[in-house]
Amino acid sequence: MRRKWLRAAVLGACTSLAALLLWGSLGGEDGITEVLAFRSEVLPGRFIEVPCSEDYDSHRRFEGCSPRKCGRGISDAVITRDEARRIRSVAEKGLSLGGSDGGASILDLHSGALSVGKHFVNLYRYHGKSGSKMMRTSWAVGRWYFGDKIQTVFSEEDFQLYRDVRQKVQLAIAQAFGISASSLYLTKPTFFSRINSTAARTAHDEYWHAHVDKVTYGSFDYTSLLYLSDYLDDFGGGRFVFMDEGANRTVEPRAGRVSFFTSGSENLHRVEKVCWGTRYAITIAFTCNPDHSIADPALT
Ligand SMILES: *[C@@H]1O[C@H](CO)[C@@H](O)[C@H](O)[C@H]1NC(C)=O
Ligand SMILES: *[C@@H]1O[C@H](CO)[C@@H](O)[C@H](O)[C@H]1NC(C)=O
Repeated sequence: MRRKWLRAAVLGACTSLAALLLWGSLGGEDGITEVLAFRSEVLPGRFIEVPCSEDYDSHRRFEGCSPRKCGRGISDAVITRDEARRIRSVAEKGLSLGGSDGGASILDLHSGALSVGKHFVNLYRYHGKSGSKMMRTSWAVGRWYFGDKIQTVFSEEDFQLYRDVRQKVQLAIAQAFGISASSLYLTKPTFFSRINSTAARTAHDEYWHAHVDKVTYGSFDYTSLLYLSDYLDDFGGGRFVFMDEGANRTVEPRAGRVSFFTSGSENLHRVEKVCWGTRYAITIAFTCNPDHSIADPALT
């Protein structure tokens, strides 16, 4: 009887040890050293300052806007869960008209570029005959010729929602970096992304490479991401990772969570591959250079 108990105890200890080792090796394997924002947290706002890189020196400087203070902010208080749900419906609606053959689809709200198969189509370009019927309905951009169907994609309400969200994010960035919101301008691209676990087919699907936004897009000074899905509820993988020297620091997506950061090399980052489910987000970036500003996407 006693021996049996002992054997059970030893067996139990071994199982725990094995589990611990497995957990330890998994924890090490994903290379994550710190979580800046857990999915389960509701952050009123967290700001982490990092020293600015020299990337801004090779661009024209706009005093009172170009980063002197660099860093990262995360907030769950800028956009409500309900706003996130509504803007996600807009993303779903737009992206449902296309979709990359690979796992990453985008819809650029400024240019109207939408992933379809291995290419992009322009959602905003008019197709079909010009004429009175066209004129009468010309308030609706995004009428898109698909087969024989002409569809109205976005409504004025959808664009209004985008503008509200953009404005709130702009204010949050200005506040965090101690600059005036009016010195920031929306810049391109600004887009919805939908990522699932399907393997990449073209370079456009390869979202997971480490990069610096200011190197990729020279106009960016401040980048923001608004998450529209929940990590581990809607998808697995897909965490945002700041790749610092000696540390990988993650932001776990949460619908309504805004993550923003200065766009230079001080914020080298990547997104983990999504391993299941679907991850929705919207990218909104700002420039200090009025020459690179774009108007809000709108009905034209
Ligand atoms: C991922 O999305 C693409 C469309 O972009 C679709 O064809 C594919 O079936 C999806 N994969 C999964 C695993 O849902
Ligand atoms: C950070 O992650 C990368 C893989 O993305 C890994 O090669 C590197 O060792 C990690 N760094 C640390 C400090 O864990």
